[in-house]
Amino acid sequence: MSIKQHQHAHWSSRLGFILAATGSAVGLGNIWKFPYMVGESGGAAFVLVYLLCIALIGLPILVTEWLIGRRGQNNPANAMADLAKAAGRPRAWMLVGISGILGAFLILSFYSVIGGWSLYYTLNSVTGAFSGQDADGIGALFNAMLGNPGLLLAGHSVFMLLVIGIVARGVTKGIESAARLLMPALGVLLVVLVGYGMSTGHFGEAVSYLFNPDWSKLSGETVLAALGHAFFTLSLGMGIMMAYGSYLGEEVNLLKTARTVVIMDTVIALGAGLAIFPLVFANDLDLASGPGLIFVTLPLAFGQMGGGIVVGLMFFLLLTFAALTSAISLLEPVVEFVEERTPLSRVASTLVSGVGAWALGIAALLSFNLWSDPVLFGLNVFDLLDKLTSKFMLPLTGLGAIVFTSWYLDKESVRRELGMDVYDFSLWSLITRFIAPIGVAVVFFSSL
Ligand code: PFF
Ligand code: NA
Repeated sequence: MSIKQHQHAHWSSRLGFILAATGSAVGLGNIWKFPYMVGESGGAAFVLVYLLCIALIGLPILVTEWLIGRRGQNNPANAMADLAKAAGRPRAWMLVGISGILGAFLILSFYSVIGGWSLYYTLNSVTGAFSGQDADGIGALFNAMLGNPGLLLAGHSVFMLLVIGIVARGVTKGIESAARLLMPALGVLLVVLVGYGMSTGHFGEAVSYLFNPDWSKLSGETVLAALGHAFFTLSLGMGIMMAYGSYLGEEVNLLKTARTVVIMDTVIALGAGLAIFPLVFANDLDLASGPGLIFVTLPLAFGQMGGGIVVGLMFFLLLTFAALTSAISLLEPVVEFVEERTPLSRVASTLVSGVGAWALGIAALLSFNLWSDPVLFGLNVFDLLDKLTSKFMLPLTGLGAIVFTSWYLDKESVRRELGMDVYDFSLWSLITRFIAPIGVAVVFFSSL
């Protein structure tokens, strides 16, 4: 087996890098997953733990992954192997990179299914399917979609085809520069929807649900869910940010850049929550409706507000776009790995990886209808893929990355690379050597 060499290009600017990283981070995780997890976990207690996880664990791990990638100048598996060798540690550290790549593949399979929902709802917006509907009508529309495997398969397939096409043609950079325009547009639409939420008269209720904690709702299970989602939403523990870091020039300040990306991701997630929960309360919907939550709430607003067809269409288009940029970032490391380890060409590697994830996605989409029975641990395929990645693979991989960096890399060089003075760096060390790893380990093992 030959290892192909390829020229390692760099981002043209800090902005290009921020766009790519934000494109990966901001996606269905913010708008689809975060609100329904909040609803399932009982509100503010979950939100606050989530924010804590983002600040104390997510941000440091994001910086760590970029740092490993930038130093390794290679794909995540090789980067870990090389750095381990240089630090006199076993090559087995490359498992951190490999498990990340496997995680990306698994996530892509079910992520694309939800991307398909978003596509279908884009279509529904155009045809005016939401107009004048009440909560029952909107709920029926959603359930009809879930009960129709052919429809789900069509959405999933079109979405995956777009992802494969973009990655195979190597035009991801073009997509990322489009993000420069489209991400802010998504932000503006969320503001419009939050505004609509205010007009329902249930905005205060939503704010208090999101930010005024009832700590009795907090369980080990909730904490693990919050932690897992912090990884998911920042695209951590999958080698993706490592891969991005490998294209990063020396001059970029990792900490500042990470802060920018984390703030954007968090603001979008909270904005989605503030847009959705007023509708939940105004229409007496089930807080714990699960993955369908945004699809049974937001269309109510689109169906009732003036100009709702346009707003709805734009919203689902932008959501699909945000999902695409994240999905691209999931497929890329898998493709890169296959391309380097096999004789396959770029295009063939993309096809093999994409079609593989697509096939697994079919099992995931059948979980909503024909194959809803549990297959393992009482979970159906969709839930299994989701839980396995968010609650196990991502935290463990992230733990590996941060432990490796904070304990095994030369401290002085890390301090200089992060541009910190000795005081800041001792706080940083405290967090990355103890707080974050122990936090992950405790949450993780106590939930087993
Ligand atoms: N961070 C993306 C989101 O919040 O939608 C999802 C995601 C992308 C997860 C890339 C993991 C990943 F590697
Ligand atoms: Na996200």
